[in-house]
Amino acid sequence: MSAETKTFKHVSYLWDEATAAAMQGDEVALLIYRSNLLGADLRLTNYGGGNTSCKVTAKDPLTNEDKEIMYVKGSGGDLGTLKKSGLAALYVDRLRSLKAIYRGIEHEDEMVELFNHCIYDLASKAPSIDTPLHGFLPFKHIDHLHPDAAIAIAAARDGKKITEELFGGTIGWVPWQKPGFDLGLQLKQCLDENPGIRGIMLGSHGLFTWGDTAYESYVNTLEVIEKCADYIEQQTGAKPVFGGEKIVALPAADRLKKAAALAPVLRGCCSSHTKMVGHFTDDERVLQFINSNDLDRLAPLGTSCPDHFLRTKISPLVLNLAPDEDLDNVASVKEKIAPLFDAYRKMYADYYETCKHPNSPAMRDPNPVVIIYPGVGMFTFSKDKQTARVAAEFYTNAINVMRGAEAISEYTSLPRQEAFNIEYWLLEEAKLQRMPKPKPLSGRIALITGSGGGIGKAIARRFAEEGACVVINDINEERVNETTLEFQKSFGKDAAASVILDVTANDSIKAAIDAAVLAFGGLDIIVNNAGISISKSITDHTIEEWDRLYDILVKGQFMVSKHGVAVMRKQDIGGDIINIVSKNSVVSGPNNAGYGSAKAAQAHLSRLLAAELGGDKIRVNAVNPDAVIANSNIWAGGWAEGRARAYGITVEELPAYYARRTLMNEVILPEDIANACFVFVSGLLNKSTGNVLNVDGGVAAAFVR
Ligand SMILES: NC(=O)c1ccc[n+]([C@@H]2O[C@H](COP(=O)([O-])OP(=O)(O)OC[C@H]3O[C@@H](n4cnc5c(N)ncnc54)[C@H](O)[C@@H]3O)[C@@H](O)[C@H]2O)c1
Ligand SMILES: [Zn+2]
Repeated sequence: MSAETKTFKHVSYLWDEATAAAMQGDEVALLIYRSNLLGADLRLTNYGGGNTSCKVTAKDPLTNEDKEIMYVKGSGGDLGTLKKSGLAALYVDRLRSLKAIYRGIEHEDEMVELFNHCIYDLASKAPSIDTPLHGFLPFKHIDHLHPDAAIAIAAARDGKKITEELFGGTIGWVPWQKPGFDLGLQLKQCLDENPGIRGIMLGSHGLFTWGDTAYESYVNTLEVIEKCADYIEQQTGAKPVFGGEKIVALPAADRLKKAAALAPVLRGCCSSHTKMVGHFTDDERVLQFINSNDLDRLAPLGTSCPDHFLRTKISPLVLNLAPDEDLDNVASVKEKIAPLFDAYRKMYADYYETCKHPNSPAMRDPNPVVIIYPGVGMFTFSKDKQTARVAAEFYTNAINVMRGAEAISEYTSLPRQEAFNIEYWLLEEAKLQRMPKPKPLSGRIALITGSGGGIGKAIARRFAEEGACVVINDINEERVNETTLEFQKSFGKDAAASVILDVTANDSIKAAIDAAVLAFGGLDIIVNNAGISISKSITDHTIEEWDRLYDILVKGQFMVSKHGVAVMRKQDIGGDIINIVSKNSVVSGPNNAGYGSAKAAQAHLSRLLAAELGGDKIRVNAVNPDAVIANSNIWAGGWAEGRARAYGITVEELPAYYARRTLMNEVILPEDIANACFVFVSGLLNKSTGNVLNVDGGVAAAFVR
């Protein structure tokens, strides 16, 4: 292993001698280390893309003989986070012996099953389709990556010639072919015909590089990619990038405003089959492409590397809206873009019909994944936030590829039939079928006001557990920050967005709803939960306190609903509003004039909006909790102490005391209220609106008549 530190300009050299030295002799550990370093740099490979391998000698447990074993990244997973459990380990001789029974390219898919007979380590991950690509080559360590700079050359019209000249014949070339058994044979043949090469470029696809040790493979890989990137950089500037700028981008703040205004309309169109979650980016590299003269020529070509278009669909939808289009006129915007969506779906159906085989799986959702708004940015829509975000990442990779290929030559995409054969490949379909079923709220976006608080946080948590994207918000910044961290830990960084929201301030509500829409593309569920409580006699109750209660509870519910409904109507795919009211909306008692009457107003506002919004399939329902003491701020600040003193008990005894006053002697927890909210949006009550659900352990006086 060389101790010299290499310097690179276009790729990150991350190898740490000391870390690697500690793994000396453990080739599998070094493979994992190298893979993680490679996966950490998106310029080297896209998320989930590429695979790496090493070949070691190990004892066959049946015969005690020394055997050559290949460890290779298994099906699925990402190099950046690869662990031993993500590797498949196979007997190399068995894998190679499969050549003897191979019946030819029309039958290559049947070989995948047989890889399982070559498994050495019974704890292996399932071997991937790329297994023979590594197995048929003799090298100890091999990297297969999808680097933008290499694919730019691989997807250039004269990519083969450029590769030969640039590397003086030390990098071989294998023209485009679907990954599989046959491509493995092609790689081996390329090596046999060009002994001594340091790597192979795969047309329209990616790169293979290798070395005798993990380190040699790592450096070889970086050097080859660096050389590709250097070459592209040298050629750039000879002609304007993407034919030069056609449209000037709006200023950054205006781009976000336009994106927030348009996203729900797009989400509605994209959700004609299944509810989709959105992502928006106005990254510099994206703007350069979408504002260019060449957009109209390049966008319909579609992407090249199969990984790219599997995530982005064959091509993006380009909108015909001006950057300064008046998006407040929703009807006219919808009129403009509806035909574009129709045309896209028809194009997709034609592609399916033209390319399908007798045994092809049924056509999938024909809506676009990538939507381009010149001058503003790029939207992506998919089944969840992570997939939508990664689709944007992949299209950005594709843009990098197009920019590089156009700089050095001319970009070429995969032929449509080849793209189809990958997209509807039976092995790909089997992978989709193996995916876990979506959760009840997957694809749904929820904003629960006051979700830094006791009940609100429990609702947000339940919704997130059921697959929803949630927008954590509260007027209390500390509670927002704490809750956001907690949610990112439990659900990953994609599941929750966060924003400060004061439900009494119209601008704050508008900004929070815009933030939700920018984060996830729209909004499906609003829970009006934010609240305070003041319990005072008519003598002591100040008018300011009365106004505060009504501002937060009643006017807050009105204003948040108003902004939320505007988004839901733009989407035109229904929605849910749930209002957290109270037993006190029904039961009359002393010292409660302000809070109790405000809660009654919240309850009737629920019914009024249910009546008004039924036609939009927006359901409005209420949940009436009582005496939820755990984690509640409402019960903090001396209120619980006051109540306890009044009853002659301790604060700790309060929950049990309240429980005894209920018909079922139950302590009510925030999770109980969250369950009630989930029931309303789970799909089981889709035909119910204008209802009230009591969650109070049974309080006869609070029964709704
Ligand atoms: N806890 C109970 O016993 C009980 C009973 C019946 C009804 N409720 C209702 O349930 C809801 C939640 O109460 P909780 O017990 O979780 O209380 P909580 O105080 O823990 O949570 C309420 C949250 O709302 C936030 N909030 C206050 N003013 C706000 C504003 N202007 N804008 C945005 N957020 C604001 C607070 O910061 C807090 O985080 C309230 O509407 C309450 O009236 C509670
Ligand atoms: Zn590949």
